Amino acid sequence: MGRTTYYIFSSLDGFVAGEDDSLDWLYELDPVDRDFSEFLAGVGAFAMGASTYESVLRDSGLLEHPERWQEGHADRPAFVFTSRELPKIPGADITFVRGDVLPVHAAMVAAANGKDTFIAGGGSLATAFAEAGLLDRIVVGVVPVVLTRGKPLLTGPLTSDRLQLTGVEKRGQVAYLSYDLAKSK
Ligand SMILES: NC(=O)c1ccc[n+]([C@@H]2O[C@H](COP(=O)([O-])OP(=O)(O)OC[C@H]3O[C@@H](n4cnc5c(N)ncnc54)[C@H](OP(=O)(O)O)[C@@H]3O)[C@@H](O)[C@H]2O)c1
Repeated sequence: MGRTTYYIFSSLDGFVAGEDDSLDWLYELDPVDRDFSEFLAGVGAFAMGASTYESVLRDSGLLEHPERWQEGHADRPAFVFTSRELPKIPGADITFVRGDVLPVHAAMVAAANGKDTFIAGGGSLATAFAEAGLLDRIVVGVVPVVLTRGKPLLTGPLTSDRLQLTGVEKRGQVAYLSYDLAKSK
């Protein structure tokens, strides 16, 4: 069975989006520095929250250009957590889900067919997976910018005895920190 990773870019002060969900600070980087296609190649299924999905729809114009989703994900199944009716990208393998993360994680693992699973954001969803003992790894790409406010990297505490630093990598302007996550005791 593959591992479940929260892979995300964060400002130096721990925000993954501005208050208005803006990701301009991320898009301003050299695309090479924020390229995570190598990680994605090992991912068989992924999940995200409604705000992340809406940002992706908006920023990539996916309703007008659904082929852009296929370019990034092909047939990779996605699970979007929402309590609302959200528009579906034509042709994309997207399942809208809600509530408990446990059955959704099981569905993700089954859909991933032995490959890794990926939590794409945001922080409260990643925290729900961590608190349920379903998150194996966190990879944070730290971007040299200070936002002072916005959407947090995580919304619940994780003590240092649960986080084992396993990797530090510099790629251009981004510092990639990898942590293995132990289950809570
Ligand atoms: N920096 C990066 O690398 C990166 C990567 C991805 C995303 N982002 C950005 O980070 C921001 C994240 O936003 P966010 O923190 O607000 O989080 P989010 O997880 O994307 O969205 C939160 C919303 O998801 C829905 N949701 C979450 N858990 C649910 C559950 N268990 N059941 C039903 N619905 C559930 C709720 O929306 P409803 O109830 O309203 O449906 C909730 O308000 C976005 O702006 C996104 O674009 C940044």
